[in-house]
Amino acid sequence: MRMCSGRRLLYCAAYSGFVGLWLGNCAPSSADGPGRFALVRHKRPAGEIYLEMNLAWELHRHFEWLRFSSSSIVRLASCACGSRTGSFIDGRLAWTSIRCRPAGPTGFSSEANRIKSQKMSITRSLIKRPPEIDPIAFVPNADIYDLDRAPYLWNVDNIVVGTQTNIWGWCLPHGGRLDNTQIVINGRSFNPVRTSPKGAYAELYPWHPNAALAAFTLQISHQVFDIRKEPEISLSCLAKADRGEDAGYTLDLLIADLDFVMPPQDVAARIGAADLLHYVMFGRAIYRGFDKALQKNFGKSFSEFSTIVDWGCGSARVARHVTKDLKKNANLVGFDIDAVAIEWANKNVGPYFRLCKTSPPLEQATATVDVVYSYSVLTHLAAETLATWVEEMARILKPGGIGLFTVLSDRAMIALQSGLARPALEAWRSTGIFDSMSNLDIKALDVAVDYYRNVWLTRDYINKIFGERFEIVDFIGSFHFYQDLVVVRRR
Ligand SMILES: C[S@@+](CC[C@H](N)C(=O)[O-])C[C@H]1O[C@@H](n2cnc3c(N)ncnc32)[C@H](O)[C@@H]1O
Repeated sequence: MRMCSGRRLLYCAAYSGFVGLWLGNCAPSSADGPGRFALVRHKRPAGEIYLEMNLAWELHRHFEWLRFSSSSIVRLASCACGSRTGSFIDGRLAWTSIRCRPAGPTGFSSEANRIKSQKMSITRSLIKRPPEIDPIAFVPNADIYDLDRAPYLWNVDNIVVGTQTNIWGWCLPHGGRLDNTQIVINGRSFNPVRTSPKGAYAELYPWHPNAALAAFTLQISHQVFDIRKEPEISLSCLAKADRGEDAGYTLDLLIADLDFVMPPQDVAARIGAADLLHYVMFGRAIYRGFDKALQKNFGKSFSEFSTIVDWGCGSARVARHVTKDLKKNANLVGFDIDAVAIEWANKNVGPYFRLCKTSPPLEQATATVDVVYSYSVLTHLAAETLATWVEEMARILKPGGIGLFTVLSDRAMIALQSGLARPALEAWRSTGIFDSMSNLDIKALDVAVDYYRNVWLTRDYINKIFGERFEIVDFIGSFHFYQDLVVVRRR
């Protein structure tokens, strides 16, 4: 960390594996935060030089400059520019990044002096830029930016219980206001403490004010709230003035699950579960979310149905909770194309799971199922495959049977737009589906390389594919992170 005094300053340093860039009017300060600059950090993923500049320029004045500056830096350094993003703190640019890949063997370092002198002229052109440029124009796909509809995105990164409970996580500040967030655990409200700015969040969510300040910590004294005495905790991250029903997902954790023996790493990795905490917490949260959706729309829990199907069950991360709810003579069947996950689930959870193929039919008789639920399967299937599976779901459900399917839709598009190219958004809007992005998570399985995708659907498209065979009962936005939930009833 380097601080600079109160004069316009431009500084560029380049040395082994580190490229630093400071510019702007720096106010002395002892911690990272709004209103100051000088934070520079870098990563070097696979041959890329990665710059992060923490600036205090008023962004709307300097938009054009940013474009100009990044391409200039790139040109001066003989690099090809990868991407630019940014984040605002109180209307000022807090963070931006430029990713550059060195074009030749010389890269940045050997050009450092030349870069230094030429950047002075970039700074001068910055000062001359007109102030009227719209900051939103910076955000790719800005036409679907709408903070009021933005998902309450957050996560718990770690929980450590010692002499007190420490929780680390991140949460996009509600409405962009840093003091507007509360973490609610089993009905008790706690104020998270925001930690230093992190460019990674701002890069992922450049449309969200103060995204760079998403990271938080929470220290809870056991005298105030003793997590060790709770068999289960339900955590939510809410605005202080809440949006009510639309308040986003909870993360749920059975404390006993911290002793759970996870499936092998490759099996867990195929469903994107990095570690034990996230495997068990997300499994429980998704189960709770499905159960809440059943109660909300039909006044019944899983335990009140006789035949339940988990389509795309993986290693039964969710189904293991549903099996505990089954009443006598009730029956659950989980289907998946992943033979190793199915074998593991049958050995470790119970004999409920069957292998299926990438195309219908399932080994399930017609009109025999009361509830089929499916977490993150329709989010991976291209248009034609997706349509045949929706039809298969209609086949196995009884008339009046219930379907719960997660999808990536407009909220996910709002959340993840910065990673998508403009043509992707345009394809999504014009055809209702964006299904041309491949996903390699299950590449170890014996499926066609282009079978598994990341797939976004518009609300109209969802209405169209379900509308013929199903009545759409509910649409729950941000059911779990980016995934929305479509609740349907078989006609
Ligand atoms: C993102 S994972 C979710 C797994 C599980 N629902 C969970 O939440 O742990 C998607 C799962 O869908 C499975 N899958 C993909 N295509 C399928 C199909 N046609 N039928 C059944 N499962 C499928 C994959 O093998 C993978 O386990």
